[in-house]
Amino acid sequence: MSTGRGRAWAGPCFTSLSGPHDVMNDLDLSTRAAIDAVIAGLATAGYICSRQIATAVFLAQHLQKPILVEGPAGVGKTELAKASSALLGLPLIRMQCYEGLDEAKALYEWKYAKQLLYTQILRDRLGEELNGVRSLSAAIKRLQGTGDIFFSEQFLEPRPLLRALQQPRGAVLLVDEVDKSDQEFEAFLLEILSDYQVTVPEIGTIRAPVPPFVVLTSNSARDLGDALKRRCLHLHIGFPEPRLEERIIAVKVPGVSAMLRRQIVALVQELRRQDLRKLPSVSETIDWARALLLLHAEHLEAEMVRETLNVLLKFEGDVKAVESKLPALTEAARRGVAV
Ligand SMILES: Nc1ncnc2c1ncn2[C@@H]1O[C@H](COP(=O)(O)OP(=O)(O)O)[C@@H](O)[C@H]1O
Ligand SMILES: [Mg+2]
Repeated sequence: MSTGRGRAWAGPCFTSLSGPHDVMNDLDLSTRAAIDAVIAGLATAGYICSRQIATAVFLAQHLQKPILVEGPAGVGKTELAKASSALLGLPLIRMQCYEGLDEAKALYEWKYAKQLLYTQILRDRLGEELNGVRSLSAAIKRLQGTGDIFFSEQFLEPRPLLRALQQPRGAVLLVDEVDKSDQEFEAFLLEILSDYQVTVPEIGTIRAPVPPFVVLTSNSARDLGDALKRRCLHLHIGFPEPRLEERIIAVKVPGVSAMLRRQIVALVQELRRQDLRKLPSVSETIDWARALLLLHAEHLEAEMVRETLNVLLKFEGDVKAVESKLPALTEAARRGVAV
């Protein structure tokens, strides 16, 4: 693995939150230490991650490749982009994908109302321009030069993709839930991600001075095209192993005691082994820990688990399926043994 020594790298550098610190290009740091620094930097931004995730972030930044994060809902895909923006000290520009998302919403639009307002304000001035011109074709010819003014950058409304390309110091571009967009949009996105530039016919080519650090997320609602996958570094985030999940809870819900935290995570992990329609994710574990904190729980009790189960399970069928097992599940979580 290269540490990028001697490489002309125009992309963003990792900075600690307390001040600029170029982790990636610091010649004294081994790659391992650089990845440790990514783990620590993300933790400072409130994101607790495995070495695998930190390595993917390190590589994506270093290879200047977009990172495509797949995995179930609520495991921290979107949060990874937010934490990376804090880590890199760069603005986060988010593009939420949906069916029907098109170039006008993603790239740029003309400020139609402003164009109209300006033409009205300048009506007299335009009249003067056309003074003495008799034929329609001559008037159009005369206006040609003038009309271009209304298709200049000041009338351009940049949307997230263009804004990300225009940032002078670079940006973290989050293309969230890309699987919700159409295939045509995916093809268009691929073009932008290939050369980090766009051509606006009326203005010309706009090239990113610093390529953005791009994070695409997907819940796998549909299969993404091979071309997009090839362009990206792939990262799958699954449910975290117990110790990692305990650390996430410790950061997100600091009021919960270590004992209760261990029991909460043990029970959630056990629920994930059940045959359920929707398994509880990290976001549900966090919500549940907050709920139990509010209820002044000191340790898990079957009755309290039953009363708060709707925080963890989102389908009535799932609640029904585990209800009878709750005493055994709670007892096992308290004793720290698997059911
Ligand atoms: N590794 C993590 N460290 C800190 N918080 C996390 C982590 N994973 C998930 N979360 C929290 O869980 C919630 C859901 O995360 P999110 O990124 O929105 O999930 P996804 O995008 O995968 O659906 C957020 O509140 C986030 O802060
Ligand atoms: Mg998300």
